[in-house]
Order: sequence, then structure tokens, then C-alpha cells
Amino acid sequence: MPLPEDPRATAAASVPASRKKRVLSGMRPTGRLHIGHYFGALRNWVKLQNDPQYECFFFIADWHALTSDYADTSGTAQNAIEITTDYLASGLDPQKSTIFLQSLVPEHAELYLLLSMVTPLSWLERVPTYKEALENVKGKDLRTYGFLGYPVLQTSDIVMYGEPSQELLVPVGEDQKSHVELSREIVRRFNVFYGFETKDELFQSHNEAALRRIVARVSSLSDDAHEEFAPVFRQSFKNFSDEIGFVNFQKKMGDDARFFSYAERLREPEVMLTETPRIPGTDGRKMSKSYNNFILLSESDDSIDAKTKAMVTDPARKRRTDPGNPDVCPVYDWHKLFSPPDILTWSAQGCRTAAIGCIECKKAMSDNLIRWIAPIRERRRDYEKNPGRVLELLDEGSKRAQNVSRETMSRVREAVFGWQKKRTEVAGPASESSTPRAEGLKGPGARPRVRT
Ligand code: TRP
Ligand code: SF4
Repeated sequence: MPLPEDPRATAAASVPASRKKRVLSGMRPTGRLHIGHYFGALRNWVKLQNDPQYECFFFIADWHALTSDYADTSGTAQNAIEITTDYLASGLDPQKSTIFLQSLVPEHAELYLLLSMVTPLSWLERVPTYKEALENVKGKDLRTYGFLGYPVLQTSDIVMYGEPSQELLVPVGEDQKSHVELSREIVRRFNVFYGFETKDELFQSHNEAALRRIVARVSSLSDDAHEEFAPVFRQSFKNFSDEIGFVNFQKKMGDDARFFSYAERLREPEVMLTETPRIPGTDGRKMSKSYNNFILLSESDDSIDAKTKAMVTDPARKRRTDPGNPDVCPVYDWHKLFSPPDILTWSAQGCRTAAIGCIECKKAMSDNLIRWIAPIRERRRDYEKNPGRVLELLDEGSKRAQNVSRETMSRVREAVFGWQKKRTEVAGPASESSTPRAEGLKGPGARPRVRT
């Protein structure tokens, strides 16, 4: 028997695996990562992996890359290697985090399929990023089944690593929030269809009054409650719970809620929004591949110098003798991330009093940026020289991810189809072991486990 936990022990470095919060996040392999990715996500991921209360999974969403770039996949594999290299260079540690490639864990596709069955089209059609992309992305036809299903695939990525009664957190930026919220709704729907049950005792004769009461509460039902209609009622109760949500259903049922149970087959994930510092691109807009205003984590010194020289500054500071305002200058935003306090003060004061020029201000910032990036680039070079090692790490990480995804899928398959239960039933109580045919089958056809 486990003793009651000493709360101080939980705070210690060894948080038991079952108490850890699961963390999952990923990126599409669109090429090398830039410093915007680092400050927007990676820096935080590294922090999470080093915090013993979390168990972290970070992956490369190569199937998601396909949802928009299906017509040309020539760069996808190399991009996946590049992005993994950047993950590792930024400090993600395969000893501490499970780092994997989505397409090496095919369970994601199976869960995606099952989730797609319960996802209403209207939910997908109103996702803001979907509508936005249809309107704005040029040169690709995004009116495909796969692109519409993007958030369902993302839901499967996330909930695959959830366990009932264990927190599941998804550190993502504002732009991904609607996806995680949608995944919560999909999970709730899934759980009602495959986890909601009406207990048999409700249909026993001495409970007829209760049954009548409940039927009266479910507006879509007539009140000729009778045992032989049990299956119909069961489904109606379930549908009603789907419509209004289980929590509301429970409230509506009051004392009669005891006739219903709800098992959390899949865990509802939560968005983990983190404060990220502002890191605009060299032109002052959001840093993005498509604006060509970024500094890669692999950028060379010369290129950093050239790009920072060309950065926009406070537009009001036209001449060297004009005082400027560092608070509206992207160069100063970067100083805040890369320069030590004394340089920061020098830059802000010098700018406000016109004691320094933008050229020297940028040069100082660039020097510090180079100093900051050097160790990341160094680590990157080690892996660049050895892409075979990068792939090996992905293979190993994906195997580890599968230890979890396989468990999740047996739970999910059983919840949906009940094959284990059916097999046991068919075999009869005397012969719980197997028939020869079932031997060697995996997945939905697997024979029931012999209980010990
Ligand atoms: N949609 C994410 C992006 O564009 C990538 C992604 C796929 C993801 N599956 C995920 C992020 C699961 C977090 C969790 O960056
Ligand atoms: Fe920006 Fe520095 Fe020029 Fe001020 S001096 S406007 S902070 S680059």
C-alpha cells in the first residue's frame, strides 16, 4: 500500500511519473528556425524540459506540412532534419524530452481517423486560421479534405500523450490557441460517445419513477418509458449529454445524475500561454520567413552584421543629431534580449540624447547577438556534420513516443469498439486464453489479455 504522499516530497526533484504534467508541442518542418522561433517557443520548451514537474514531448509535424505542401514534398525530409538540428542546438535534450517525428508514430493517423468521425464539419469550417488561409494563401489550392482536417490531426497529436486524470498542457503561441480549444471540444464529444453510460439499474422496475423524471427532462423524448425501450433511451440520453455537455447534463439531472457515468477516455488538453518577449523582424514587422526579416539560428557573423546594419530604427530619428526613442526601435528590442545592462543603458541614453548614432548602436547590438548565438551555432555545427546521428535520435525518440501512443490506442480502440470485451464474451468464461486465429493479431483484433 502506498503511504500518503508527503507534500514536500512532490516538490523534490523526483516527481513520480504519474504526478508529472504532460507537455506536448510541435512545429511544422518549414525549414531552418530563426531567433523568433527561439524566443517564441524553444526557449520556453527548454525551460519546461528542465522542470521536474513536467514530462515533455516535442515533435516535428511532417504530416501537417503536407496539408498545404502536398504538391511538392521534395524538401520536407531535409526540412525535418534541419528543424530537429535546430531543436537540439537550442538545448532540447533527448535525455530529458521525447523528441520525435510525427510520421514515425503512425498511431497519430489512426487516432486522427477516429476523431474525424465525431468532428462536425461546421466546427472545422469556422476555425479562424482556416478561413484566413483560404482567403490569403496564394499559389496552393487549400480546398482539400486534408487541409480542412488540420485541427483534427493536431488534436490527435495532442491527446495521444494525455492520460485520464493527468494534466495535459500545450505550450503554443496565440495563433494556435483556437486549435487547442477546438481539440477540447472534439475530446468532449468523443468522451460522451464512447465514455458516457446509463446504468442498467435505471431500467429496473422499482426505478420507473426516476426514469419518467429523467425522460421528462430530456425534451426530445416522450414519456412512455419502458424497459424494452432501454437502448433507445440510452442513446437519447447520450445525445442529450452531447448536445449540452456532460457537466450541464449532470446539473440538469440533479439527484438522478447517479444513474449516469462518464469516463474520460481522452484527456482534455489546456493551452499553456507563456509570456514571450517582443522580437520584431529587421523591418519592425512580425519576424517571418515570408517577410525575409529574420536571423536564423544558423546565420553567419557576416550575415548578422549585414542584416542588422539594414535594420529599421526609430523613423523619427532622421539625422544623427536628432534625439531618438528606443521604445519604438526594433534595434532596442533586440538589445534587450542580447546586450548586458550597461550596454542597454548606454544605448537608451545615447539614443535619447543623440549622444550616439544608430550605426554604432546597431554594431554594439550585433556584437552581442553574435556572442549569444555562437554556442547555439556551435552545437548546430556538430549535428550538421552528423545528420545520421540526428536521424538516429529521431528514431529513438519516436520509439519512446510509441510506448505511450500504443497504450493510448489500445484504450481508445477498446472505448470505441469494445473488441477485447467482445472477444472475451465470444470465447466464454472457461476459455479466456486464445483461439489460434487470434494469435499474432494486433490492434482491434488482439486477443484478450489473460488476467493474472
Ligand atoms: N499547428 C502547429 C504549427 O503550425 C504545429 C502542430 C501540429 C502542433 N500539431 C501540434 C503544435 C500539436 C502543438 C501541438 O506550428
Ligand atoms: Fe534605435 Fe539605437 Fe538608433 Fe536609437 S540609436 S533609434 S535605439 S538604433
